Amino acid sequence: MPWTTGQLKTAIENIIKDRLLIIASNREPYIHIYKEGKIEYIRPVGGAVTALDPVMKVCKGIWVAYGTGTADREVVDKSNEIKVPPENPKYTLRRIWLTKDEENGYYYGYSNKCIWPLFHMAYTRPVFNEVDWAYYKIVNQKFADTILEIVKKKEAFIWIQDYHLMLLSKLLKEKNKNLITAHFLHIPWPNPEAFRICPQKIEILEGLLANDLLGFHIRYHCGNFMETVRLELEARVDLEKTSVTYGGHETLIRAFPISVDYDQISKEAESEEVKTEMDRLRDEFSIDSKVFIMVGLDRIDYTKGIIEKIKAVDRFLEKFPEYKGKVIFIQKGGLSRIHIDKYKELNDRINSLVEEVNWKHSTEKWRPIVFVRKHMTRREIVGLYKIADACLVSPLHDGMNLVCKEFIAAKNDLNGVLILSQFTGAARELNDAIFVNPYDRESFALAIKEAIDLPRKEKERRMKNLRTVVNENNIYKWAGKFLEELKKI
Ligand code: G6P
Repeated sequence: MPWTTGQLKTAIENIIKDRLLIIASNREPYIHIYKEGKIEYIRPVGGAVTALDPVMKVCKGIWVAYGTGTADREVVDKSNEIKVPPENPKYTLRRIWLTKDEENGYYYGYSNKCIWPLFHMAYTRPVFNEVDWAYYKIVNQKFADTILEIVKKKEAFIWIQDYHLMLLSKLLKEKNKNLITAHFLHIPWPNPEAFRICPQKIEILEGLLANDLLGFHIRYHCGNFMETVRLELEARVDLEKTSVTYGGHETLIRAFPISVDYDQISKEAESEEVKTEMDRLRDEFSIDSKVFIMVGLDRIDYTKGIIEKIKAVDRFLEKFPEYKGKVIFIQKGGLSRIHIDKYKELNDRINSLVEEVNWKHSTEKWRPIVFVRKHMTRREIVGLYKIADACLVSPLHDGMNLVCKEFIAAKNDLNGVLILSQFTGAARELNDAIFVNPYDRESFALAIKEAIDLPRKEKERRMKNLRTVVNENNIYKWAGKFLEELKKI
């Protein structure tokens, strides 16, 4: 039976008991902005936030994150806190403010110019910079100070998210030994060969090993981490128990494949509002009912394989020109980390490639690729999944990838095919997808043809199986299993 919110609530009551639950992440779940003189909020699209918001609604803890919105300061109280979701408050968001230099060094610099490319191994060279590292430490300390101030003498469980805060657990424990800390890394852990070039590797490993529990999406990343520790530190790596003991402290290493709120998305997909949205989207993109619709949704990031997708569509149309006018690829791409050159270059490259491919294949009334840049609401996104005949998820490397799981959750009519990169964590669970190697344009183009040709019955069989997997392993199970592991500590 799939985990329910009720079950997660009970698990939390049994495990967390009276302890304060604090989540710490770089990205905040709600961003307040000024729009035409009024304050509005938007929901960021990243994986960590997508997964954790439904969990926090059940857990009722405090979420500490960096406030990035133009109107973020306007809406918080004296303690920099605000109850969220704003229209139906369920938990507290505590905002941390960073200076421009801190944001530059810690977020754009160390986190996203160094750790992100280093851990994803997508052939973008990591940039190691002493100043960025100094800011990374300063900001981790800032998070630690805020959390210690919230906790005071209470018993608390601190659940740290992702690669921006890898020193946090150690900084917290140095001041308060009674805290229980766990860390979930939302990106892959690379093999030891790749990691060993990092000049700050020892401090990062020591930071992570101050946790009581350390989680990755898949066992392969746990293996990479333990092998890294074995080679870099004088630590006891217990492969039976999958734990590491370093400096007398034991850290459990576990895999927890993250997921989405299957029920919520599935319900939303059935709503009248989404049906209206589907008609509106078909109108907006002038799509005839016979056209085969492919969609993609990504942050504009070089790990996501967006260029590779466009090239695959191009190759598909070269190979099968009879499909001109009969397929469309709608790619939603949210701007991301735009102050980093590589991201700017990628954005420009996408613009020109879309232009090129459209120019090459378009007819009077039809263009094969529609690139959507505007922010889309949840309802629009679910509508987009629903009108899609196929979803193209093609990262060059991804810890998990939640877009494919959202697509599956939205496909309650079973009418859709998932084309999935074999280099995502999700590929280990979603066996009924059509798998692609995004680096191989030729076979990617053939996978598109295979998706189009798949008989209705086979499509439904595959989607049914995929839905069973995502329903069974929903986000509540992910959180519940993570928390249950704490009982062993
Ligand atoms: C990845 C990270 C998330 C992050 C997301 C969006 O999925 O693991 O923690 O939220 O990217 O990136 P951003 O830099 O916009 O927060």
